Amino acid sequence: MRTDTPQTIYRKDYNPPTYLVDTVELGFDLDPARTVVANRLTLRRNPAAGGRAIELHGEEIELVALRLNGKTLAGADYTLADNRLVIHEAPDDVVLEIESVCVPEQNTTLSGLYVSNGNFFTQCEAEGFRRITYFPDRPDVMAKYTVMLRADKARYPVLLSNGNLIQEGDLDDGRHYALWEDPFKKPSYLFALVAAKLVCQEETFRLADGRDALLQVWVEDGNLDKTDYAMQSLKHSIRWDEEKYGLELDLDRFMIVATSDFNMGAMENKGLNIFNTKFVLANPRVATDVDFQGIEAVVAHEYFHNWTGNRVTCRDWFQLSLKEGLTVFRDQEFTADMIGTDTGRAVTRIDQVRTLRQHQFPEDAGPMAHPVRPDSFVEINNFYTVTVYEKGAEVVRMYQTLFGVDGFRKGMDLYFERHDEQAVECDDFRRAMADANGRDLTQFERWYSQAGTPVLRFEGRWDETAHTYTLKLIQSCPPTPGQPQKLPFHIPVAVGLLDAAGNDMRLVVDSVDRGATAVLELTQAEQTFVFTDVKEQPVASVLRGFSAPVVLQGSYTDADLLHLFSHDSDPVNRWEAGQRLAMSRLLKLAGEAAAKGNSGASLNLDETFIEAMRKVLVDETLDPAFREQALLLPSEGMVAEQIDGVDPLAVHIARQFIRADIGARLRGELLAQYEANLTPGAYSPDAASAGKRALKNIALSYLNAAPDDESVALAQRQFDEADNMTDRAAALGALIASRVPEAADALDVFYQEFQGEALVVDKWFMMQAAAPTTDVAAVRALMRHPAFTLRNPNRARSLVAAFCMNNPVQFHAPDGSGYAFWAEQVIALDALNPQVASRLARAMDRWRRYAPALQEQMKAALQRVAGQGKLSNDVREVVTKALA
Ligand code: PHE
Ligand code: ZN
Repeated sequence: MRTDTPQTIYRKDYNPPTYLVDTVELGFDLDPARTVVANRLTLRRNPAAGGRAIELHGEEIELVALRLNGKTLAGADYTLADNRLVIHEAPDDVVLEIESVCVPEQNTTLSGLYVSNGNFFTQCEAEGFRRITYFPDRPDVMAKYTVMLRADKARYPVLLSNGNLIQEGDLDDGRHYALWEDPFKKPSYLFALVAAKLVCQEETFRLADGRDALLQVWVEDGNLDKTDYAMQSLKHSIRWDEEKYGLELDLDRFMIVATSDFNMGAMENKGLNIFNTKFVLANPRVATDVDFQGIEAVVAHEYFHNWTGNRVTCRDWFQLSLKEGLTVFRDQEFTADMIGTDTGRAVTRIDQVRTLRQHQFPEDAGPMAHPVRPDSFVEINNFYTVTVYEKGAEVVRMYQTLFGVDGFRKGMDLYFERHDEQAVECDDFRRAMADANGRDLTQFERWYSQAGTPVLRFEGRWDETAHTYTLKLIQSCPPTPGQPQKLPFHIPVAVGLLDAAGNDMRLVVDSVDRGATAVLELTQAEQTFVFTDVKEQPVASVLRGFSAPVVLQGSYTDADLLHLFSHDSDPVNRWEAGQRLAMSRLLKLAGEAAAKGNSGASLNLDETFIEAMRKVLVDETLDPAFREQALLLPSEGMVAEQIDGVDPLAVHIARQFIRADIGARLRGELLAQYEANLTPGAYSPDAASAGKRALKNIALSYLNAAPDDESVALAQRQFDEADNMTDRAAALGALIASRVPEAADALDVFYQEFQGEALVVDKWFMMQAAAPTTDVAAVRALMRHPAFTLRNPNRARSLVAAFCMNNPVQFHAPDGSGYAFWAEQVIALDALNPQVASRLARAMDRWRRYAPALQEQMKAALQRVAGQGKLSNDVREVVTKALA
């Protein structure tokens, strides 16, 4: 039996720190093979805690010296075991001096201090600071930092840390130094340093209060032609936070640094944000519209953390959504405001809904389901999830839906008034919202404590003599691990009623005119709302704007859905009606394909559906971006979620059939829209142009789902002639999907042209990994390509994870070869980088939903990984929970 079973940590066990840290002085002698860290801390006993032991964390570092108030500690004075350094007994006020050594060049985990392309970077969230020095590495310990960096000047000309540069100069032996001071107290997870050979784009920017701030974007030499958009996004973000929330940049200098080796998207270190290159570097030649959007959103997200995360931080990691849910909500609203138009806003909302359905709902229904504020974890890195982030953002959004934009702002103001420079809990945010708006939000707490996606069912009945419409809302929530029973949620349900002409009726509830959309508050398991003065049979538009993260069920007829799809004034529900029409076809055809042994010979798509698609495709009153969203079918993964004992091949066949049928039957309209939505002239990533490109490219993709000489020639011409990556990549994708021999040549041309651009090479791998023509053997062959390495997270994700997560047909090959590959790669990656391995491990989350023959093989693969003697806590937690 294993004795080193990983420990579960519980939220209920929270204890305040025994000592608080006031100041931290760090000295680094940076050397890839042996970095010496001198750490001088002033600590103060925490009267709120009791106890005289000082508890420090430390991992993969070697303790060299330890002095307390000037005296070297003897071995009997402290215990060093299990990554903990405990000093048994200390006075009230302590100066602790600690010297330790780490080896950055051997750090493949990308947590702590590491080397990437010869440069030093740090990553400390969540628990990486303890890999740099001994410290009470927990977010409720906030201190002021002074940092001295020393390194070889030729190899590391740029030395950066948090806050302000106080002093710099030369040392002996070709070394130099820089001294940085952060004026704000911060938790250790926000510490950062960079020592590197980099160049920057910089400018001064006038803040609302008249101060000038220095803004910098640091990248490797050769990438300065790709920093404009990140800089512009940063300036927009600063302005937006000033205008929307009255929140100003509190530093004289704000830096963004890009590294190609990064586990996540980016990190909000105080004044020194470190980014995955994917979310910094862009120009039209190498980046797509989606890449530009991602950069704008992530730059904003990290910038917004300066207030929601840094100035007010988390008491403990169970509160992660306090900063992440709120900051995602803020970046979502920023993105919508940047587009500015109503449909533009709606399209961003549709994107969010799709992400939730595709990723968060499955998580919430699977073995890793957890509340927005988890009660326990083994490895905190496993809880940077779509639930904490995206569902957390939905929970924040519901406050705004309940109280309006102004009410939400009042809550935000009160939150900062109460908690600036504190480490607090999700409950504190909820209390600020409640108090600022004079509302009782006790029941609303269940959104934080109960996991699982609530199911909201509605039943509507029109009374033709009383002229009333009675809407019955019924909620329930399925059990999740550790939570067999759920209590009712407080759900804001935005509702509209359409008349026969498709117009909104005026809503009168309890004699109050509620306008065209009423936000009903469902708090019980079942509740009834009566609309009066309803003179004709309406069609209900329920959950407008996706007002709550729930699964909505209602007995829609095709006629209702067609009515909503043509007329709903709420664009999200208009889109939603189309998705429901599509989903019912996908499920029906997938069932038929499976019944016919996946031969697919005689599938049929009804004229009603084709006609609905035709109408939306050619409706010039609708934004191209909206039309593209309306034409995009639910993904194979989303369809699979609706089927018990799913056969992924049947789903693929059904979806491909519908795509090809649309391509063939709407050929003329698709060609016309292709022509009508060309964007001649210089490329611009703005939403209107991007929307046109999106519509044009989905037309191209449908045409090539039923390829003929003309559609292939169209794709080939676009591939050859386009001047931007959006159109190049879309054309290449169309060629690959149409399975024509031209695809192989185009892939070669593409690689030759972009082999010097790492982020484009990632795209090249990814497009192949996700193509249904790429089987396991082909993926293995791609892994032998000289450009492939498992050590770079972006590259590993672009091939290995893309195959396991975005190529369902091949991943679920009946012979189990995909699963064997998965097990092998999880094990190989785990030895290098547990965080990346653990994300890949989650590809098996939903194994119990597949057809029995597949399930058996998936289980065997999971058991094979679980049976490994040497496994990180990260991966062990995921596979153990999957098998439980
Ligand atoms: N806090 C980062 C963000 O939300 C994400 C992150 C987590 C990055 C952990 C690195 C490590 O933007
Ligand atoms: Zn974040």
